[in-house]
Amino acid sequence: MAARSGLEHVEPSIFERGAPGRTGVQMPCGEAGEPKIPSSLLRREAPLLPEVAEYEVVRHFTRLSRLNYGVDIGLYPLGSCTMKYNPRVCEDAAALPGFANLHPMLPDGMAQGALEVMYELEKALVELSGMSAITLLPAAGAHGELTGMKVIRAALEARGDFRKKVLIPDTAHGTNPATSTLNGFQVVPIKSNEQGVLDPAVVAAAMTDEVAAIMITNPNTLGLFETNIFQVSQIVHEKGGFVYGDGANFNAIMGKYRPACLGLDVIQFNLHKTFSTPHGGGGPGSGPVGVADALVPFLPVPRVARNADGTFALREDFPQSIGRVRTFQGQFLVMVRALAYLRALGAEGCRRVAERAVLNANYVRVRLQDRLHVPYPGFCMHEVVFSEKFHKKAGVETMDIAKRLMDRGYHPPTVYFPLVVHGAIMIEPTETEDKATLDEFIGAMEGILDEVATNPDALHHAPSVTSISRPDEVLAARQPVLTWKPAV
Ligand SMILES: Cc1ncc(COP(=O)(O)O)c(C=O)c1O
Repeated sequence: MAARSGLEHVEPSIFERGAPGRTGVQMPCGEAGEPKIPSSLLRREAPLLPEVAEYEVVRHFTRLSRLNYGVDIGLYPLGSCTMKYNPRVCEDAAALPGFANLHPMLPDGMAQGALEVMYELEKALVELSGMSAITLLPAAGAHGELTGMKVIRAALEARGDFRKKVLIPDTAHGTNPATSTLNGFQVVPIKSNEQGVLDPAVVAAAMTDEVAAIMITNPNTLGLFETNIFQVSQIVHEKGGFVYGDGANFNAIMGKYRPACLGLDVIQFNLHKTFSTPHGGGGPGSGPVGVADALVPFLPVPRVARNADGTFALREDFPQSIGRVRTFQGQFLVMVRALAYLRALGAEGCRRVAERAVLNANYVRVRLQDRLHVPYPGFCMHEVVFSEKFHKKAGVETMDIAKRLMDRGYHPPTVYFPLVVHGAIMIEPTETEDKATLDEFIGAMEGILDEVATNPDALHHAPSVTSISRPDEVLAARQPVLTWKPAV
């Protein structure tokens, strides 16, 4: 099998290359001759930097770029992350000098275009979610959750209610319990039923007047639609609690229904997942939050408003607001990309995105389900979760399969998440892939599953075409080596 990554010829580190005296640039001296630097400011010893020529620097960084995998290289099936292709037109919009060079401290009168972008984006998100108002301030999905839960707490406290518990289903995204805890709430885990969704009776039993809210990821981390969500919302509301919807998986539902209609009081969007911003590697992100009527007064400031004369302004005069959650106005250029994306798609395009996200995941499920165990059979939404049940019997771990995919030229899927599935493999093909690309990917998976039966050892030693094979991932995450240090 010919590997497609092209990484086989990449040499290891070249940072030590070069030779004394080599230099990449010759600074022109100009008519004044060499600049006069006072001797007190001159270095006494040369810096310990590699001495390299320009071509070596260019080759070094070009090689490094080829060690990485990205959505511009191919299908990126990292479940829960929605690693889809981001149209260049959105990048072009964000790069317009009027947006890209805008100073965040400009007075409103000199930033009318930017404020209008924010106002229009809020309107579009209101339209898609059915919520009453939006804040664009949070910097990522988890930050949106934190903001939304702060808003809920402020609303409860305003009515003299100091509830301390939050219900979190076992299929929620990991950031949900973290968010609740950071907000000072105590997490009450809720077990899903055999179909992998919430059981209203279980929620009813846990729903006391000590419970501030339930946080529901929908579609949940099993890739399943929470079919009882309306009933669950009613149960929570009857006991005076709020329903928080983690809307990070919005690409599965956008344009198909409005979450507010299912009883959600709060929802956060991950603009960087759903609305076209390249992400991974830590950012940039944006996690706007939409809220129902009762929570609007508590939204953070500043808020974008349209004046009677049609101009736009940032307003801070909301006495019940939770205050600021972010410097300036949030991740503005991510908002520009999101609005460009939504305008390019239109309402019908949004619906097609959701339909195709779901269709693609189900195509992968149906094509692989005889050979990879599906713990929750039946229709899935935008991602499909397999378990280790079949390959574990052959002595192959989920990690082996994930690593072997790299040898076949793909980024691995999300593994061992969600925790409710043993040895989970979570594949999110996303809406941007066509059938031919999906077939190629499925072919690669089938090839690996053939090896599970015939040559499992090849999997244990994968990947073999990357510059490093299996790093200690815990160590790499806890003690990352991010800077080059010269050998002294
Ligand atoms: C369902 C869900 N909720 C929350 C988050 C957290 O978002 P972020 O990584 O932007 O903080 C993610 C991230 O992928 C997610 O998939």
